Amino acid sequence: MKQLSVQHLLGIKYLKKEDITLIFETANHFKEVINRPIKKVPSLRDITIANLFFENSTRTKLSFELAEKRLSADVINFSASQSSVKKGETLIDTVNNILAMKVDIVVMRHSDVGAGVFLSKHVNAKIINAGDGAHEHPTQALLDTYSIKEKLGTVSNKKVVIIGDILHSRVALSNIYALQLLGAEVMVCGPLSLIPKHIKSLGVQVETNIKKALEWCDVANVLRVQNERMDASYFPSTREYTQLFGINLELLNSINKDIVIMHPGPINRGVEITSDVADSDKSIILNQVENGVAIRMAIIYLLAQQIKK
Ligand code: CP
Repeated sequence: MKQLSVQHLLGIKYLKKEDITLIFETANHFKEVINRPIKKVPSLRDITIANLFFENSTRTKLSFELAEKRLSADVINFSASQSSVKKGETLIDTVNNILAMKVDIVVMRHSDVGAGVFLSKHVNAKIINAGDGAHEHPTQALLDTYSIKEKLGTVSNKKVVIIGDILHSRVALSNIYALQLLGAEVMVCGPLSLIPKHIKSLGVQVETNIKKALEWCDVANVLRVQNERMDASYFPSTREYTQLFGINLELLNSINKDIVIMHPGPINRGVEITSDVADSDKSIILNQVENGVAIRMAIIYLLAQQIKK
């Protein structure tokens, strides 16, 4: 049986193209499973998984939990706001206490960049990064690229623009790595204050004119402005941001091509995207969410195959 080249899923940066191909092939199988009347397989009955969320989440947390339950794993959930972290416990102590309860895989979202890498060096469990600060969100990038492949047949040679707050986004960096591994061309578009200074060194194009960016691309992945990560004002007003970078139907109708619209969620309707676009047949936003379960089942299943019982 084919195996991943990595022992943990810490970031797309650590994956090879063959890993993504294997994850997609495995996800194809699980997508078929979750569309059956009985959406569950007994594959991981001997595996226990802890979901540790030190930051808020709706989609990622629910999607991981559902993926784990569809694989018949035992699941425990931890949310920092209701835990002894508030009493001063360190990350390693928290995790080692959870592992003492015989946990095999830890899924973790944390506000610190590199939290997953740190944990993988100090605890004896498989680690899956569910988002570390403004660094990486590998499962989001995998479900995004899987959704592009499903919609357009291939990712190779497609032109993808990532629009909005690139500076504070872990989705952007993971998508750039995944899209490039799969042979896509990548552009970022947004106010220069929200684009990292050295982003061109990653081989991506930079565009500040939203219409030109949309005319160039096959796929537009629209990001939220991440106010919770901002310690300063990056643009004069939300109204101006929306006028210059918001995606609306009038703008899409003004370009002479059909493009695919994506968004990782949560959406701020009326800010970076209007409802008539988010809910239109150009949008694959809910397909992304559906594919997230199959992709996460694939990753958990493949990592669990490496565990010797
Ligand atoms: N896309 C994403 O990570 O959403 P959540 O923050 O709701 O998990």
